[in-house]
Amino acid sequence: MADKSLNEIRTKFLKYFEKNDHKIVESSNLVPNNDPTLMFANSGMVQFKNVFTGLEKRDYQRATTSQKCVRAGGKHNDLENVGYTPRHHTFFEMLGNFSFGDYFKERGIELAWNLITKDFGLDKNRLYVTVFHEDDEAFNFWRKIAGFNDDRIIRIATSDNFWSMGETGPCGPCSEIFYDHGDHLKGGLPGTKEQDGDRFIEIWNLVFMQYEQVSKDKRIDLPKPSVDTGMGLERIAALLQGTHDNYQTDHFKKLISSISEVTKVKQEDKNISSFRVIADHLRASSFLLAEGVLPSNEGRGYVLRRIMRRGMRHSHLLGSKEPIFYKIFDSLKSEMSGNYPELERSQSLIKETLRMEEEKFLVLLDRGIKILNDEISKIDKVLPGDVAFKLYDTYGFPLDLTEDILKNKSLKVDNKKFDELMKKSKELAKKNWKGSGDSSEEAIWFSIKDKTGPTEFLGYESNQSESIVLNLIKDNKEIKSLSNGEKGMIITNQTPFYGESGGQLGDKGKIVSGNSVFEVEDTQKKTWRLICSLWIFENW
Ligand code: SER
Repeated sequence: MADKSLNEIRTKFLKYFEKNDHKIVESSNLVPNNDPTLMFANSGMVQFKNVFTGLEKRDYQRATTSQKCVRAGGKHNDLENVGYTPRHHTFFEMLGNFSFGDYFKERGIELAWNLITKDFGLDKNRLYVTVFHEDDEAFNFWRKIAGFNDDRIIRIATSDNFWSMGETGPCGPCSEIFYDHGDHLKGGLPGTKEQDGDRFIEIWNLVFMQYEQVSKDKRIDLPKPSVDTGMGLERIAALLQGTHDNYQTDHFKKLISSISEVTKVKQEDKNISSFRVIADHLRASSFLLAEGVLPSNEGRGYVLRRIMRRGMRHSHLLGSKEPIFYKIFDSLKSEMSGNYPELERSQSLIKETLRMEEEKFLVLLDRGIKILNDEISKIDKVLPGDVAFKLYDTYGFPLDLTEDILKNKSLKVDNKKFDELMKKSKELAKKNWKGSGDSSEEAIWFSIKDKTGPTEFLGYESNQSESIVLNLIKDNKEIKSLSNGEKGMIITNQTPFYGESGGQLGDKGKIVSGNSVFEVEDTQKKTWRLICSLWIFENW
């Protein structure tokens, strides 16, 4: 198996589960249209969330996927680790198999065990597993199926062995499979102080989905016990290619050699973080751009901008004075568009946006870095908040970029002062806006935006979505409810409705909730909010 490429390993995984009666289902989009609480798909189960809870029915009970995931915002966020470890990513693919009320723990463990030990040929003596401390059932199945002694099945009492998608959603105890990369690497077994080292690496997480977290204090049983598993493709590829470093797999080696070619810099120990960051952030940025997420100063667009700018700072560190991301994109496209044709379809948009963002940022970056270096020479431990704010406000340095630069020098930002200045600047913008001659009745939109943030537009990829209703408005006032036959406006956290702008009319359509239907007759943008005017009809 040592010569298997990342692309071949993906196929092998999916085919194994297909042979075991699972339907191969395509990855869903990174921007979830079935979940208003999540910024990005952070695992394979996200597209099946409503199937687990019984809200949605599909014509299969077993599925397998390779899911595009981004962990750079929200509950699961790995952004700041990328570059400094051999296995963190903002974008990765998660291989998984799912049972929707069909098989449960025993078959789930058996399927996983057979794949890794027989088809992938992993040495049983290098494997360990963890179970949630109360889960005797899983413990006993591991003993029976893998023939493990008790010392190879580690009970863990923390949230590491209880998986949840986010603050709400399906969840349950889990069992993780670990691989021992050998004593030439530092690190201890799971549950020990040294667990975060490079020696014992988690390769697969089997979640026994049993509950739904409905709100912070309320957890209910799922209609049927189910299974959701997740194995990072980059991690298993590293293992099967004889390395513990994801960035040393065939896939990343190609990206890294393309970075080398474009920058004319060789990868060495001293610049390894920059190569990793560029390779990883190029993947995340390209896949997000392919779905129509564009760099902006709010919401998902801002997460994208932070990823892009963090990556671009590292191309600058390698000495690039010209944009390089759009040039490296071609090697990503040739590696991945076979499985993800959106990279081919959206290539012009991706390349042009990468080029423009990098061009713009390189100018600011040069000047900003000079200011930052000047300040660093004056301080002992903490960078004043007003310097960090100036870098943000004038030079477009996201706060985490400044923090990332300081991290290597063991310095910190005065975040309290930074937050204070941020708040003041928002208040000032609001004051100036009110005096701009716009009708004062429009002021309501500003206070609403302050409270709830922007509406995310999902219409590039989808013409329907689930959303959270954030506000109802009637006669220029916020109200609690609208009754049958009444007309008003509704604001949601995300929407596929296009708001009138640039000569294009706002979308019309329907919003359905329980027995009510809202006829949307217009959609408008107000200070970056999309507002739907609607009539409400009950008993739909
Ligand atoms: N949802 C679990 C995880 O992300 C298993 O897929 O680890």
